Amino acid sequence: MTEAGQVLDIPFADAFAFDPSPTWAAIRESDRPVVRVRTLTGSHVWLATRYDHVRLILSDPRFSRAAVVADGAPRAGVSRPLSNTLPTTDPPEHTRLRRLVSGVFAPRRVEALRPAIRELAGRLADDVAAAGQGADLRQLFALPLPIQVICSMLGVPYADREAFREWTELAYSMEVSERARVESAMGSLVGYMTDLVVRKRIAYRRGAHGSVAVAGAATKASHDADAVTARGGDTDAVTNTVTNAVTDTDAVADADTGVVGNTATDGVAADDTVAATGTVTTAVAGTDTVGTAVADTDAVESAVAGGIRDSAHDHAEDTGGDLLDELCRTALTDDELVAFALNLLVAGHETSANQITSFVATLLRDPALWDRLVRDPGLLPSAVEELMRVTRLSDVGQLRIAKQDVELGGVTVRAGEGVMASIGAANRDPRVFPDPDTVRLDRAPNPHLALGVGIHFCLGAQLARIELGEALSVLINRFPRLRPARPIEDLAWRRVLVSGLAELPVLP
Ligand code: HEM
Repeated sequence: MTEAGQVLDIPFADAFAFDPSPTWAAIRESDRPVVRVRTLTGSHVWLATRYDHVRLILSDPRFSRAAVVADGAPRAGVSRPLSNTLPTTDPPEHTRLRRLVSGVFAPRRVEALRPAIRELAGRLADDVAAAGQGADLRQLFALPLPIQVICSMLGVPYADREAFREWTELAYSMEVSERARVESAMGSLVGYMTDLVVRKRIAYRRGAHGSVAVAGAATKASHDADAVTARGGDTDAVTNTVTNAVTDTDAVADADTGVVGNTATDGVAADDTVAATGTVTTAVAGTDTVGTAVADTDAVESAVAGGIRDSAHDHAEDTGGDLLDELCRTALTDDELVAFALNLLVAGHETSANQITSFVATLLRDPALWDRLVRDPGLLPSAVEELMRVTRLSDVGQLRIAKQDVELGGVTVRAGEGVMASIGAANRDPRVFPDPDTVRLDRAPNPHLALGVGIHFCLGAQLARIELGEALSVLINRFPRLRPARPIEDLAWRRVLVSGLAELPVLP
């Protein structure tokens, strides 16, 4: 469909709408299904659209994820991905990191969270009912559900959600004109997580008997991160600075508390950029011990969330803590811990929140689908898989860098070149999925790639399936006659890397 040698801009001009751009299918069905595209930061990369090619790119070790964070590497979005996370490492680093968390996210362990997630979904459905006609299902239901779950599992205060949501939205923006704000938001996210990690690591070393002075030291870390961000430094600079602060703090915490107090106070007084991150600073200053910090959530984090935390960590009775507490005890460096935790926080809510919204929107767009699920809830497991297949999370693709020359769909991807695997396009490949644009709630088999494949297969796959299944189950029971308050096609789509509807007003 493209002229030989023509380079398309990605995201395509008609991206960020409910239906995928027709360009995806046109490339996939052409005789040149792997094409050159230019990302919004000007990187030239290959784009793969067919199922077999996408599957290969995601799972073949000749394609690297670690290389996407190298200097000068092509980029899919505006922000630079954080190093040292699961999605940005190759073996053996990836294997080491994944082993640290695979137990907590193992299907059997996660299954134990189901009752608490169901109860939480029920409470959030109450909020939707209370809001009445026009209630925004995304704000009231789809966002708080996974945020509360991942906050509880990780040990991130739910009370901080407004702040980290705002930063996440900006940090992964696909508006290239927003570059300065994007970098600043990424710096804020890193600073926020550093505060948390500092407090937890110090508490671990002190046996959870922190002091105001210790909390002050954490504020110093936040201050340093903010100062770097305010100077327009890039994410790596921020990470390095906060990491140094973490390391310094660790060292001082082992020494004399008074010294820590002075250092922290000087640091805070010297620069009022700290005030710019009110939430972080307040959270730190108001917290004397980690125990308080973890418990310092607002009334919304209820016994339900406590149930999630208890179920997730019943294996760790000796700590009584959460996943972050556990990771603090590992040999992860401070750098790794901050990036790792941030990745889990963002990947753990952004994805499911979008998918819950998109699932409901897809069903309501053709109310016969909603009504069928209401009549036959036994279809829920296959419906979840089918809805994962048809709803896309990204209007670009998963980026990898070729480590050697690879023949792919009639082109040679040269070593060092970037290649994007479009899961959304692959999931509608008619070679694998008959009648791919039709939603069949009972489709079987359904070997979709929505959760990836290979060593980077979604860590939260089972958690996501439970959240999505329980969310739909609660909604069809509570609101059997649910309808959209506005035509689905008219609803705005968020221009971010992990994309989806900006709102979903409904008539409950
Ligand atoms: C419907 C919801 C979700 C979808 C569609 C989804 C999708 C994906 C996909 C496609 C990948 C592979 C990316 C690649 O190979 O480049 C992935 C990886 C990942 N996902 Fe999910 N995800 C979802 C929910 C979650 C949740 C709830 C978590 C919770 C922590 C999570 C954590 C991760 C992590 C950490 C990775 C990286 C794994 C690795 O590189 O080893 N995801 N996800």
